[in-house]
Amino acid sequence: MRRSLVAGNWKMNGDKKNIATLVAGLLDLECKADVIIFPPYVYIPQVLASLSDTVIAVGAQNVSERKVGAYTGEVSSEMLRDIGCQYCLVGHSERRSLYGENDRQVAEKFYQAQLAGLKPILCLGETLKQREQGETLGLISAQIDTVLDCAGVSCFSDAIVAYEPIWAIGTGKSAAVDQIQLVHQYIREKLGEFGAKTRILYGGSVTPANTAELLGQADIDGILVGGASLDIGAFSEMCQMA
Ligand code: PGA
Repeated sequence: MRRSLVAGNWKMNGDKKNIATLVAGLLDLECKADVIIFPPYVYIPQVLASLSDTVIAVGAQNVSERKVGAYTGEVSSEMLRDIGCQYCLVGHSERRSLYGENDRQVAEKFYQAQLAGLKPILCLGETLKQREQGETLGLISAQIDTVLDCAGVSCFSDAIVAYEPIWAIGTGKSAAVDQIQLVHQYIREKLGEFGAKTRILYGGSVTPANTAELLGQADIDGILVGGASLDIGAFSEMCQMA
């Protein structure tokens, strides 16, 4: 049985005061699902300290594909582990589309994160054009193959994958639930013997209004929430539905 997972990606939002308010709203959260918060890097220590007496885990929104050295501006997996992070996102579509991260870099990030003992959440997804051209499954397959090439098949023995159609992120347009379920099922089958254990999240305009339907699908094990995770009332509601 896979445990449900709700992840809140705060992206580049908030300041010290506002983050303290968001975190205070999470202190009384009670739910059966695993919950992870992804604050902006600089606020990770603040969030870790405030949530230390809760079961809510903290992760980073991005990580370097390098281990250590002269890489100005980068943050390594080991550093994140060192301060108490347990998770990191890799290959979020905003990193791919706005910062030019390619499949190989994403795969290296995934590999380095696992080496350091972080649990990476591998984000995959297609553009609207790719979907319209019928390329969704081929693209997802290629994104997974690059990770398999780089990190080996056993890297999926304890991994989390997030399917996030790029055209559904921050747009208010969620993909149709049956389309999402199909992609999730495809990902699970693609992962072979590790598929049954791998948690596959959906992300892209998730709100309390579509959470229950999404989580009711056989292969949707959780949600990766962007915009709506900044509203703690809405986020808590989604956690309780999971
Ligand atoms: P959204 O973002 O919920 O605002 O669409 C999802 C994500 O980017 O993880």
